[in-house]
Order: sequence, then structure tokens, then C-alpha cells
Amino acid sequence: MSDNQDLSRLYPTRIDLPAAARSKIVTILNQSLAATLDLKTQTKQAHWNVKGTDFFQLHELFDEMAGELEEYVDMVAERVTALGGYAFGTARLAAANSILPEYPLDILAGMDHVTALADRYAAYAKHVREAIDKTNDLGDADTADLYTEVSRTIDKRLWFLEAHIQVLEINAGNGAAATTNKQPAAVK
Ligand SMILES: [Fe+2]
Repeated sequence: MSDNQDLSRLYPTRIDLPAAARSKIVTILNQSLAATLDLKTQTKQAHWNVKGTDFFQLHELFDEMAGELEEYVDMVAERVTALGGYAFGTARLAAANSILPEYPLDILAGMDHVTALADRYAAYAKHVREAIDKTNDLGDADTADLYTEVSRTIDKRLWFLEAHIQVLEINAGNGAAATTNKQPAAVK
């Protein structure tokens, strides 16, 4: 990595958080920026390409979800700059730094898109939840709060996605829902 692609780079700033902590926090935020941009474009990919009898509701749902992610892209990038960091938000940097796998390009059916997005939303949710603790431990309650807001929405969207496929996964005896919830009838 060249110096100008160092996610932890800082400008001089008057903010009172110590530079050592800010450097770590902006690195985490820049990783989130890449993942959020990546997830947003993947959600748009699903919005454009989904087919099947559920087309319209999924097309609309995916667009709403991509719109939320677009807001988080801006929130995360501007938290980087508020902390004196350089925001790394180009498409090329997002592709290089994202934690997410590439979106499958050969799927069409609604539930295949729902499953692909559920897998990616789950990975992103894990990253965001870990970032709450890491930024709290680094003494930045404001960034932890930003992540908490994102986390709540992402968990909700993961629920929306999984609600389409959990019955199928449970009946098939496989998938995350089936392995973590072996007695769905008993759940209240
Ligand atoms: Fe559209």
C-alpha cells in the first residue's frame, strides 16, 4: 500500500480526541465506508436485476435499502473528516478495501437475490457491531453512537430479508435459520 492509500492518515485538527486514537478510528471508519459503498451498489444490482412473481415488491424494497445505505456512506465519510482523516470513498477504493464478497452476477430469482443480500447484510452487521465496541474502547462515544444507529437499521433489514426465506430454509433443514432455530414452532 502506498502512503497516500493509508486509511489512517490524519490532518492537523483542533478536536480534542488524541491523534493515536483518531488514527485507529478513521481506519475502522474507512473500512466501513468501503463496505457500505460496496453493499449499496450490490443492493442496487439486486434492485435492477431481480425477476419473478415478487418482482415489484423486491425491486422497491431493495431500492429503499440502497437509499438508507447511501445516507450511511455520507455519515461515515463525514465522521472520518470530522476526526481529521481522509475519506477513502471512490468506487475503486471501495472495491479494494471492502470486507464483502462480490455479488453473484448469474442469479435472477427473487429469493436468490434475497439470500445473496441476507448473507452480505449479516457480514456487514457483524462488522458494524464490532465497530461499536472498538470505537467505544477508543474513547469515541460519538462514532460508537453512529455505528449503533447503523446497526439497528441493518439488523432490521436483515430481519426483512430473512423473513422471506426463513420458512423455506427451516423446511429444507438447512441454512442459518434451520441451524440456529431447530424448533421454530416453539418460538414466541
Ligand atoms: Fe431504480
